[in-house]
Amino acid sequence: MRKPLMAGNWKMYKNAGETAAFFDTFRPAVEKTAGRDIVLCPVFVNIPAAVAATAGSNIGIGGQNLYWVREGAFTGEVAAPMLKAAGCSWVLVGHSERRQYFGETDESVLKKTVAALEAGLNPIVCVGERLQEREAGETAAVLQSQFTGGIAGLTPQQFAGVVIAYEPVWAIGTGKTATPEIASDAHKVIRQAVAAAFGAEAASAVRILYGGSVKPDNTATLMAKEDIDGVLVGGASLDPKSFAAIVNY
Ligand code: PGA
Repeated sequence: MRKPLMAGNWKMYKNAGETAAFFDTFRPAVEKTAGRDIVLCPVFVNIPAAVAATAGSNIGIGGQNLYWVREGAFTGEVAAPMLKAAGCSWVLVGHSERRQYFGETDESVLKKTVAALEAGLNPIVCVGERLQEREAGETAAVLQSQFTGGIAGLTPQQFAGVVIAYEPVWAIGTGKTATPEIASDAHKVIRQAVAAAFGAEAASAVRILYGGSVKPDNTATLMAKEDIDGVLVGGASLDPKSFAAIVNY
């Protein structure tokens, strides 16, 4: 059985004080939650505040991005071992906003995923089609090519440490959630791609999250689908009560 993973991506929201205040409410609301991985990804500078506020809890902290070189003259970048040393256990890789605004490609996603794994972080690698690609009937081909050009380049041992997040770009921040059927179909495509590249065992073990306008009132129907193993939540993870309701769906 795949353990559900409920992850929040705060994007570029909250300062250190707001980060600590979130956990004052959120931590008690999930302290009895068992059998689920809970992860929050604040902005880099608030990782120390989030790590301090969650010490000794069942909540893991992740970065939203990383650079693949261990250290060096790369102004403005943050390396995987630095995230690890700051107390992170997770990191998002290849979010569609990174692909859209910051030029990330399947190739950079692969390098970042390898760097994360080498530093002992658990990467959550994001894939997903744009609206025009869905409307053109290209969803499966886009997902397949993001997989093939990206994390299919891992070794089987490396792949075992990866979580995949399916986030249709048209559903992110738009209030348009993919129906559980649409999400489940996409998850099946991804799982088949995993089976072809890494075998049936890897395909049945890998966790595939859904992301895109996940809210407290649509979480249970999404999670009821066999191929959906968790959620990656943007907007609704900013409010502690709302994200606790999602985690405890
Ligand atoms: P959203 O964002 O929940 O606000 O749609 C999801 C994401 O970008 O991970």
